[in-house]
Amino acid sequence: EKGGFDTYMLKEIYEQPQALTNTLIGRLHDETGEVNLDINLDPQSFKRISIIACGTAYYAGLVGEYLIEQLARIPVEVDVASEYRYRNPLVSENTLAIVVSQSGETIDTLEALREAKKGGAKTLGVINAKGSSMTRELGDTLYIHAGPEIGVASTKAYTSMVSAFVLLALWLGRARGTLTEEQAQELLHAARELPRLVEEALAPERVESIRQVAEKYAHARDYLFLGRGVNAPTAFEGALKLKEISYIHAEAYAAGEMKHGPIALIDANLPVVVVATESRLLEKTISNVQEVKARSGKVIALLSDGDTENARHADDVLYVPRAHEMVSPVVNAVAMQLLAYFTATALGKDVDKPRNLAKSVTVE
Ligand code: F6R
Repeated sequence: EKGGFDTYMLKEIYEQPQALTNTLIGRLHDETGEVNLDINLDPQSFKRISIIACGTAYYAGLVGEYLIEQLARIPVEVDVASEYRYRNPLVSENTLAIVVSQSGETIDTLEALREAKKGGAKTLGVINAKGSSMTRELGDTLYIHAGPEIGVASTKAYTSMVSAFVLLALWLGRARGTLTEEQAQELLHAARELPRLVEEALAPERVESIRQVAEKYAHARDYLFLGRGVNAPTAFEGALKLKEISYIHAEAYAAGEMKHGPIALIDANLPVVVVATESRLLEKTISNVQEVKARSGKVIALLSDGDTENARHADDVLYVPRAHEMVSPVVNAVAMQLLAYFTATALGKDVDKPRNLAKSVTVE
């Protein structure tokens, strides 16, 4: 049932090209730059968006915030469900509440959805599990179609959620006139490339080099992850994956926050993973890399293929296929998953059954 893989987690990591194909299939129309999501939601019927989720799904929501604000120019806030549900949130008929959940059963997210509905919000779910509790209470559901996810640490559901947000941001941008047909076509093309890029990110020589880096640092006590903009959540997700399955303490920050505190942690024993793939703000991120180096930190840089220039600043480099910045979090997440995976296996941990964790959190 693990299809020849040692673990469900690894199997699901390798299923990502197919999962992403399933997320995208039938929803993109090249000629017109249109996206068809098969939902009834009127894209003009709200003025603001609240994205609500827990854990990894919350990080997918943070990418969603970035994409929707950039591409559709709608104000978005993102909340962890356990906070949202108890803070008497400001909701009205002008709000679209988007809940994000693999299982569709997470109790905090379900209760947050009920809270949003009580306030009159329109509701949309970005959901994997068909017919789950949330889908029965949602106005509209955008299924991610990632297929069943057994591994406790979420992998393919995350990348499919992020891809669903690419589609949603494109759809909203087209409907609300913030994207020209040309811009939409460019993004649509970038989205369509995702299954192939993720396949490429899983090429044996890349996986092997991530395994080597993971083993080199597997005995670190702590890890720091940094990223910016649309890839700040990639850093958060990388740290969460590492904590969950290897039990190494990991912190993650938006790279620009480093000098406001976490820089004090840096010494020669601290591996710092920096997401530094091609982006508008790459130069800023590279200056953060130099700050880490100046304090003898060990830099593991995630770089776009061919970026030998910036490789000079790093102790170790993980190369990933070049992708349009707006879809790059999907490709970059794969390297994060593999880094966590090989760290955990190097330490002899049972990645499919991480201690203290359950696949679906249906109690508070
Ligand atoms: C992390 C992980 C959890 C879930 C969270 C929400 O790998 O799996 O953080 O993402 O419990 O679960 P869903 O998406 O089912 O609501």
